[in-house]
Amino acid sequence: MELRVVRHGLVDSTSERAFAAVAAGEARHGDVHVASGQTAGRGRRGTTWHSVEGEGLYLSVVIRADRVALPPEAPSMTGALAVKEALEDLGVRGLELKWPNDLLAGGAKLSGVLVESRGYDPERPCFVLGIGVNVAQREFPAELRAEREVTSIRLLGIEASPEQVLGRLLPRLGARLGQCGSDPRALAADYLAASGWLGRQVRVDDGEGGLEGELRGLTLDAGVTVEHPSGERTSIALGHVRALTRLSP
Ligand code: BTN
Repeated sequence: MELRVVRHGLVDSTSERAFAAVAAGEARHGDVHVASGQTAGRGRRGTTWHSVEGEGLYLSVVIRADRVALPPEAPSMTGALAVKEALEDLGVRGLELKWPNDLLAGGAKLSGVLVESRGYDPERPCFVLGIGVNVAQREFPAELRAEREVTSIRLLGIEASPEQVLGRLLPRLGARLGQCGSDPRALAADYLAASGWLGRQVRVDDGEGGLEGELRGLTLDAGVTVEHPSGERTSIALGHVRALTRLSP
């Protein structure tokens, strides 16, 4: 589907700009708010997204699913899958999708997605899908590195500007967004295939006991399904999955 790009300079957060457009009645499904930098870029669970001007790609997509029952996990898969495909188009190799919002390279975080909604109306769901990609950073602040390993496209040996990454991302995002609206189940199947995790030993954290076993499925209806050594299968709904960790290589 066709995306409309809305350009910003340095902003608080592209997701705030997208929500402001929604509140003002100016937002269309597929609007992409792109900024050169963010002063209040946010990550998942109240974290800050490091958003120096010109060093990363920062964008937020308005997803309006009029009268379509679209679970919030579908926009997240849309973003993560489109970024993986776009970066592979650029020649980045060794990428790994990590549910729910990470794209890793060699175990280090390269990109993250954050799906938010405000005043959620199930009859007319509206999500803002925020995407951050580390592009041209040569180094990251020590406090960020203390939290986890991070990397950028440049550190992986590929020279590209945020604008060039955007150029690769928009067609992939348009295609996956179309699929998200028309066939979200196929999107989930593609996400699982691209993760390469089917049949691997995983741990599913749900904030309670969690479970471990061989990954047998990841679908919008059943959630994450694992098989125990006894052959018995258990599923946890996607909305309850806090983290999915691979235990076997
Ligand atoms: C995460 O992995 O924690 C999610 C990071 C999402 C960051 C992007 S950058 C563009 C958009 N605007 C924000 O404030 N956050 C998202």
